[in-house]
Amino acid sequence: MMQDKVLIVDDDPGIRSTISELIEELGYLCETASDGLDAVELLDSGPYLCVFTDIMMPNMSGLELIRKIKARDVSLPIIVITGYASLEIAIDAMKYGASDFISKPFKVKQIELMLNKVKREKDLVEENKRFSDTLQLHRLIDNLVGQIEDKNEELISLQAISEKIISMKGIRDLVGAIIDVSKQLLDEADVRFFPISRKHNTLIDPDGGKEILLEPGLLKGNIIRKNGSGKALTDKFETIFPLMIEGQVFGALDILTSSILGDDKESKILYLLDRSAERMENVALYEGLYENMLSTLNSMAKILDARDPHTSQHSTRVTSLSMAMGKALGLDEDDLDVLYIAASLHDIGKVGIPDHILLKPDGLTNEEFAVIKKHPDIGADILKPIPPMAKETEIIRHHHERYDGRGYPAGLKGKEIPYLSRIISLADSFDAMTSDRPYRDGMSIEKAVEEIERCKGSQFDPELAEIFIHHVALS
Ligand SMILES: [Fe+2]
Repeated sequence: MMQDKVLIVDDDPGIRSTISELIEELGYLCETASDGLDAVELLDSGPYLCVFTDIMMPNMSGLELIRKIKARDVSLPIIVITGYASLEIAIDAMKYGASDFISKPFKVKQIELMLNKVKREKDLVEENKRFSDTLQLHRLIDNLVGQIEDKNEELISLQAISEKIISMKGIRDLVGAIIDVSKQLLDEADVRFFPISRKHNTLIDPDGGKEILLEPGLLKGNIIRKNGSGKALTDKFETIFPLMIEGQVFGALDILTSSILGDDKESKILYLLDRSAERMENVALYEGLYENMLSTLNSMAKILDARDPHTSQHSTRVTSLSMAMGKALGLDEDDLDVLYIAASLHDIGKVGIPDHILLKPDGLTNEEFAVIKKHPDIGADILKPIPPMAKETEIIRHHHERYDGRGYPAGLKGKEIPYLSRIISLADSFDAMTSDRPYRDGMSIEKAVEEIERCKGSQFDPELAEIFIHHVALS
């Protein structure tokens, strides 16, 4: 296999050689550049697995280099080397698209974890590309089908398995799909999935019954077959398949049938579990990544709140008002998730607004207000490099639009404004009106409701405003 190549950019030769040595020890090839200009020239001799770069360098700074790299290849991960942990540098680098940070003293383990993550993310992207390519999928199925006798029947069920699996999002959905598909494959079977309890080495009964002792064979990855001799199962055959992820038992699929499972059915179930395990690894990794990013963003939101004590808790309150509104509207779970994140982070772009403007109590000049008005775009730019945040990005970008088109940044009008942005806008204004500021007390709820009433159709979506008043503000 070809060795992956890593590019290291730092004007300090000592740091260049320390990091190169560490990374070469881990089995990668290293190339080094002493500034951004050098690095840009080297990019042509890629592909690189990732780039480590310093920020303060002569000729071309690290931020400029990040911008240049992202313009050529958005997907190339960039890890910033910082001498000391600086929030400003971190936020700047993130805005430009850096994916991680490393600071002195460099630890081999830390670099190893970082590179493993980069590699897995790359594989994940490729894997997802492969899965989304239906042609590839059909080829895969055709190959499998070629090895099996009854082509028609197999084609239908294997295709069904694959399609079901690739359309799954979360682990819970996936377990549901495993049960569904098994039931389809085996008529009249009783199918249950037992997650494993690592603490007690037992299987957890999904129906809330007591824990079931784990067969030692199952732990080793063997299929357990019981032919009706079990106590309560006098006339049924029980087959238990382990679901293995990376060599570890993740749970067990328990199947009760009235006749013994044949080899062909067993092999279909095995195929199902194999594909599911593959997918679960990806989902777990993906969800993990997503959570990592969320926690980074949430700490940014906290930092923002800390800068301005008068608005601290604002994001939290806007989030709970928005969620109350989302529930009143009967939004589905996916939309509620998006709403939650977008509302929590709606003002994240204010990290890019200087203190002397952000913290000014009153009387902004036109120029200063123009700077404040950039925060929805800055926020959207921060989230843009994160693909699973695409919806949230647009919602945050438009949370200051007005229904009559006189808002910012895009001047969108009416239903052109994303639905969830219109919800956040109500929650945001209501909270701004009702909370205390250093220079004034908050309005009463009644007064704020009057204000919303007055601005129905101009600032706010009139239908949503009605619902907000009756089901959120006054309830
Ligand atoms: Fe805002």
